[in-house]
Amino acid sequence: MHIFKTIEELQTYLKPYRAEKTIGFVPTMGALHEGHLSLIHTSRQENYMTVCSIYVNPTQFDNKNDFDKYPRIVDEDIELLRSVGCDVLFAPSDAEMYPQLVESRISFGKLENVLEGRFRQSHFNGVGIVVSKLFHIIKPDKAYFGQKDLQQCLIVERLVRDFSFDVKIIRSATVREEDGLAMSSRNRRLSAIERQFAPKIYEALLLAKDMLLNHKATVLEAQEAGIFYLNSFGVFKIDYFEVVDTINLEPFENLTQQKEIAICVAVFLGNVRLIDNLLIELSA
Ligand code: PAF
Repeated sequence: MHIFKTIEELQTYLKPYRAEKTIGFVPTMGALHEGHLSLIHTSRQENYMTVCSIYVNPTQFDNKNDFDKYPRIVDEDIELLRSVGCDVLFAPSDAEMYPQLVESRISFGKLENVLEGRFRQSHFNGVGIVVSKLFHIIKPDKAYFGQKDLQQCLIVERLVRDFSFDVKIIRSATVREEDGLAMSSRNRRLSAIERQFAPKIYEALLLAKDMLLNHKATVLEAQEAGIFYLNSFGVFKIDYFEVVDTINLEPFENLTQQKEIAICVAVFLGNVRLIDNLLIELSA
């Protein structure tokens, strides 16, 4: 695997391949897990070459503590990437990515104000900026994102549509631990006790789904059941537990008007903030 820290070196390496070969791109912030590896795997199947980036992007964090505590284990990550046959790693410094302060803003309208947007000031502006920069630097044919970050998938798809990026976005299903916990770099920060409670998040999603599909519950009843279930353990601080549409991630009341819905949740478990979601196709 080739490792590059500067844009110039990376671009010099990629240039000869661009005209004739396809490049798949998996952007990450490191602390890689099976979810990332499955994206690399898909990219390898679909492209001649796979580029992964590891960069903990400061502009998407509104909480300095969260940024400082974000796990950084690049040596382990490199070993993992080698083991799955990733071709190129781009691991730039802050000075390389942001030689000047970025004062431009990318706004995503309603989509940036719902769910995560309500709790993480300017988060999607930061994601939009860094993903745009990475797309310009790497010029991939396809880029791979995990569905655990559903809102991020929609934001990136909108970025590509609105700014005519020549890249196809591929969403991949959430990869889960055996007990159902969605894989996340932040899971490493959970204490042993917190880790035992963490699968309850997925159980709450399944409970709400079951109520909607099998018990004719209203959206409100399903949400309340999920919230009640999580609260019953006394360890979660819930930011949101919402049933939303899958276009703008907005709440709605009438289930019969939707083809597909998502149940989305964000909680604090101790100091660690975890998100998860379930997509549900409704039969006509
Ligand atoms: O999902 C992530 O890891 C990050 O938000 C991303 C897409 C790499 C941008 O920093």
